[in-house]
Amino acid sequence: MTIIQVPPVPADVALVEGIATLLHSAYGAGIDPSEAVSAVTEPLPGQEPVCRFLLVEGANTVAGHLAAYEREVAIGDDHCLLGMIGDVAVAKEFRRQGHCKKLVEAAHDYFSSKAIAFSVLFAFEPAVYVSSGYRLMENEIYFLDEDNAWKTFVYRGSMYCELGDRRWPNQKIDMRGPTV
Ligand SMILES: CC(C)(COP(=O)(O)OP(=O)(O)OC[C@H]1O[C@@H](n2cnc3c(N)ncnc32)[C@H](O)[C@@H]1OP(=O)(O)O)[C@@H](O)C(=O)NCCC(=O)NCCS
Repeated sequence: MTIIQVPPVPADVALVEGIATLLHSAYGAGIDPSEAVSAVTEPLPGQEPVCRFLLVEGANTVAGHLAAYEREVAIGDDHCLLGMIGDVAVAKEFRRQGHCKKLVEAAHDYFSSKAIAFSVLFAFEPAVYVSSGYRLMENEIYFLDEDNAWKTFVYRGSMYCELGDRRWPNQKIDMRGPTV
């Protein structure tokens, strides 16, 4: 099993289908499987990843996935480029073997290589990310919701990770668009 970095829409169709199948089985109850492919190839505006990290077995069997995003946001009066992580999934038969943690580590290495100070995610299971350095945040988040309305929430399960020496600011975040 290896972790590879691929573009948002990999050229290899088998990888695209593998991502869609994995995400559909992890998150897609009630969604048509063909919609899972278009979610990979045609992400919603403002929700395009910069790259994906895949756990692959053999040439192109996708056993794990993480989408990495970069977002220019304002935190308080500061402008900041945030790394963001979404659509994290590991196939059932490979869970609890540290693969999610390795995918997160790969995304952190990528963000750090671009001098990004913080990574943020919105977790269903916050406990999964604590050992990767994430802590629950208390920041209010101003964002564009699916119903096209701008809203302010303290998002349950929103977490930050400090990738370098900079301390996380506990101030309102203007996402300037949707979350991931
Ligand atoms: C959540 C998920 C990605 C975890 O993948 P994984 O490869 O099994 O995770 P890891 O083995 O790397 O475990 C990382 C840490 O999370 C813990 N963990 C794993 N699954 C957990 C769960 N369901 N609940 C609580 N903690 C969990 C592990 O014990 C480990 O903790 P540690 O580092 O302190 O020992 C996987 O279960 C999955 O795909 N679930 C369905 C999709 C989903 O819910 N994704 C989003 C989660 S926010």
